[in-house]
Amino acid sequence: MKKALVAVDGSEYSKYAVEYTSDLLDKEKWEVIIIHVIPTLEEFGIESVAPPSLVEQLFNELRENAKRIVEEAAKVFREKGFKVETLIKEGHVGKTIVETAEEIDADLIAMGTRGLSGIKALILGSVARYVTNHAHCPVLVVRKKEVKR
Ligand SMILES: Nc1ncnc2c1ncn2[C@@H]1O[C@H](COP(=O)(O)OP(=O)(O)OP(=O)(O)O)[C@@H](O)[C@H]1O
Ligand SMILES: [Mg+2]
Repeated sequence: MKKALVAVDGSEYSKYAVEYTSDLLDKEKWEVIIIHVIPTLEEFGIESVAPPSLVEQLFNELRENAKRIVEEAAKVFREKGFKVETLIKEGHVGKTIVETAEEIDADLIAMGTRGLSGIKALILGSVARYVTNHAHCPVLVVRKKEVKR
């Protein structure tokens, strides 16, 4: 079986990428690994200002949220008959996706063009950009068809 690493952040762009990829791939040929990465403190840039208890609470919420995000995506693939696994990691988001793809020897990474911050002016979000620039395997970056640019 070939391996597709599907990166999700719970955004509508990410959900669209999940729908699209689950329609595109053949479940007889591909197994799916869903990944969500919780950014590190440095990426939030709050390490020196926020009290530890607040940081702890924030990360607990992010971990709970991460479970929901990966399960929701896993459900879409499972209902279409795919073999699915889920991963939740912490670290630099783009780097962690690329390193995980290498670790599991992925044949494809699938993701959306934009994500939660969804700044309309950006053609590609920073995670999509990082992964397309650094991945060792093909990357499917799914743009919504109706979004004209
Ligand atoms: N934390 C994450 N874990 C896993 N996949 C992610 C994560 N964040 C984004 N992605 C994937 O990358 C795609 C593009 O999102 P990206 O974060 O690059 O755009 P953005 O949120 O609009 O911009 P930015 O984060 O640079 O402000 C998403 O649709 C999703 O597939
Ligand atoms: Mg983002």
